[in-house]
Amino acid sequence: MIIDTHCHLNDEELYKDYKNVVKRAKEAGITTLFVVGWDYESSKQAIEIAESDENIFAIVGYHPCNIEGVSDEEFDKTMSLLDHPKVVALGEIGLDYYWVKETEKRECQKRFFIRQINEANKHNLPISIHCRDAIDDCLRVLKENHVNKGGVMHCYSGGPEYMNEFLKVGMYISLGGPVTFKNAKAPKEVAIKVPFDKLLVETDSPYLAPHPLRGSVNEPANTLLVVQEIARLRNVSEEEVAEQTTKNAKRLFNI
Ligand code: NI
Repeated sequence: MIIDTHCHLNDEELYKDYKNVVKRAKEAGITTLFVVGWDYESSKQAIEIAESDENIFAIVGYHPCNIEGVSDEEFDKTMSLLDHPKVVALGEIGLDYYWVKETEKRECQKRFFIRQINEANKHNLPISIHCRDAIDDCLRVLKENHVNKGGVMHCYSGGPEYMNEFLKVGMYISLGGPVTFKNAKAPKEVAIKVPFDKLLVETDSPYLAPHPLRGSVNEPANTLLVVQEIARLRNVSEEEVAEQTTKNAKRLFNI
């Protein structure tokens, strides 16, 4: 049993054939999937997909690149989705300074991030964090705004020093396709050094297909390649990685 803790079956690329995508995942031993939203529509769709299969769950919220022009009314509508029984976390939320360069817009991302952390606390849910080129600010926000139920650094790309800081503020570390890339020094080091009970696996599909499929449309079945590479790096069996990361995901997301 393996849990893909972050995939986007609600992305057009996967949604058009999602029943078969799920079937292939199950055949590969990926028994449980978390479908992640990035705005109201995609969050609603994540829930609809979760309703179609008892082993699919939803994560709903606003990605930092999708917050512009969101009215209070729409925000509240999205947050009301958090009460749905198949929703296991609020996400993906956070900071993205790769796509957003203007200071004012980055400040706006921070305020929105904190606003969603408050909602997660109100709803007793963990969070799923997207952090790109913004690691210091992301850490600062988490230090200043306690997340009661913890969360996960989705597709964590920082090094082991920052990893320790994120662990201190209650975060788990999730690794995806990049850990399999030949030149990916940081994720490989993190895979070895992360406490085994804080490690999660994911695909972030349809993005970030692992080696040797890099560049193709990613899908949850490929979580297996991530598990295999982590097992190789830690010098443990594939089954141990599968079992431990599943246990961790169940603990964090309370399923
Ligand atoms: Ni994502």
